[in-house]
Amino acid sequence: MRNPFIAGSWVRGENFFGRADLLRDILEGESDSIWVAGARRLGKTSLLKQLEYRVQQSTQTPFVPLYWDLQGSADSRGLADGLLGSVEDSESFRRATDIDVEDLEGLSVADMLTTLVRRTVRSGWRLLLLVDEAEEFLAVARTDTVVLPRLRRIFQKGPDVRTVLTATKRLARIDEMTDVDTSPFLQGFIPPVYLTPLAADEARALLVRGQFSKDEVEMVLERTANHPFLVQLIASRLFESRDLGATLDQVAADEMVSNFFSVDFQTLDGDERALLEQMARDGARSRKELAQAIRRTEEAVEPLLYGLRMMGYLTAENGSYRIGNWFFERWLRRVTASAGARPA
Ligand SMILES: Nc1ncnc2c1ncn2[C@@H]1O[C@H](COP(=O)(O)OP(=O)(O)O)[C@@H](O)[C@H]1O
Ligand SMILES: [Mg+2]
Repeated sequence: MRNPFIAGSWVRGENFFGRADLLRDILEGESDSIWVAGARRLGKTSLLKQLEYRVQQSTQTPFVPLYWDLQGSADSRGLADGLLGSVEDSESFRRATDIDVEDLEGLSVADMLTTLVRRTVRSGWRLLLLVDEAEEFLAVARTDTVVLPRLRRIFQKGPDVRTVLTATKRLARIDEMTDVDTSPFLQGFIPPVYLTPLAADEARALLVRGQFSKDEVEMVLERTANHPFLVQLIASRLFESRDLGATLDQVAADEMVSNFFSVDFQTLDGDERALLEQMARDGARSRKELAQAIRRTEEAVEPLLYGLRMMGYLTAENGSYRIGNWFFERWLRRVTASAGARPA
């Protein structure tokens, strides 16, 4: 039997597990401006690809989806090239909207997007714009001050276009960078919807593919706190080795996994990192203790704890907070222990 687990590239269709409520809210809810905030490898690209897939399979949807990955765009020229590439890659979008790539070549990104919306509406559809790696807007904002306000006006064209942005929490910084006299870029997109780890029964449904024992399944859920990438990574290796102890040790020591935690941790802001470091050092702590430790009020740490809990970094039980998954906790203990040698 072939290894049924996928750890690394995005998943959709029969390989996509869970998130039914979120998919429905995005497709059938009221809001036309949605920011889904999630940590790295939590399934942001998969979510967008699944939305695209679901809409393409549906006979009753009002939407035509277009997936647009901003990674590496860097400036407004890069955004335009990327958007053109998205149209080129999606034959079903071109067919539904009767757009030819030649109609778009040479246009600025804002003009191109305006054209896409106009042609979509003229063909009787609404545009479902699926924008991946939206942190790239931070880089764009550094090189170009006019393009973002123009894009914002198009994203918020009401019912003609429904925009779903995915990014880590870092995207919030964009409204600290932009001009005070232009409207905030994320207006309408905040507060974000958080992408959470999988629910336990969703992770179990995924693990059924490996025909593991019940104890093995429960141990994987406990150690990963249902983080979909870690579940898939461990399941994939366990499928080959059939030795859970060795697999857990191997994943805990894996360079790629440490690197993933390290890059992910840097997407959080200073207070969020300080809270997690505190828990890694001292174990479970109350909100009051945490607030004192990082010299903030309880009111100030509450929204931070909420976001961290939603993204799966920590779990809360009886008013006490601790790090959500064992692998992340081990990694953070290691780095805080070695940093602890230096004065703060
Ligand atoms: N809904 C899901 N069902 C099953 N596995 C998932 C799901 N979402 C993410 N994964 C796992 O996480 C990995 C990373 O997903 P991806 O969508 O690329 O995350 P991101 O874009 O947030 O970095 C995938 O390779 C897969 O192993
Ligand atoms: Mg991604």
